[in-house]
Amino acid sequence: MGRGPRTCFALKSPIIMRMKQRSFLATGPALLCLLLGGIVSADPRTVNDGVYTEDQADVGEVLYKEHCLLCHDKKYFRPVLKRWEGQPLSIMFTVMSTSMPESNPGYLSQKEYVDILAYILSLSRYAAGDTELDQADGALNELMVEARQRK
Ligand code: HEC
Repeated sequence: MGRGPRTCFALKSPIIMRMKQRSFLATGPALLCLLLGGIVSADPRTVNDGVYTEDQADVGEVLYKEHCLLCHDKKYFRPVLKRWEGQPLSIMFTVMSTSMPESNPGYLSQKEYVDILAYILSLSRYAAGDTELDQADGALNELMVEARQRK
C-alpha cells in the first residue's frame, strides 16, 4: 500500500503516454496503474507463508518443554500472537529473547529462541514450509504477524 501511487507517478512513462495517444479506454492507464501498483507493493511476507520447518518446530518443542512450559502452557501464545497481529515478528522475538525465561532472561542462544518461536507458530497452526525461521540480519523485521489463513 502507499507505494502504488508513487509507482504510477514514476510511470509517467512512455507506456502510459502511448496508451493515452492511442486513445485507449479512459480507464486503461488507471487500470495499468492498479495492476502495477499491486505487483510492486505486494504485501510483505507474513507468518502464513510457511516461514519455519517442521524439524525446527520439533527442536523448538524440546527447548520449550525444558525452559518455558513451567510457566506457559501451550495455549498461552495464541492470544499473544493475536495481540501482535500487524506487527513484525521481530518484536515478539525481542521480547522473548531478552526477558524470558522470566527466571533467567536471555539464557538461551538466539538460535534456540528462534527455534522456540517456530514451535510457537506451529502451536497456533501456522503452516510449516521449506526454510527455517531465521532471526539473522533483521529478517524478522520483514515478517508480519497476521491472523492464520487457511490455504
Ligand atoms: C518462571 C516463569 C516463566 C518462564 C520459565 C517463562 N516465562 Fe514467559 N512470561 C512469564 C511472565 C510472568 C510473563 C509476563 C506476564 C504474562 O504476560 O503472562 C511472561 C511473558 C512472556 C511473553 C510476552 C507475552 C506478551 O503478552 O507479550 C512471551 C512471548 C514469553 N513470556 C515467552 C516465553 C518463552 C519463549 C519462554 C521460554 C524460553 C518463557 N516465556 C519462559 C513467565 C515465564
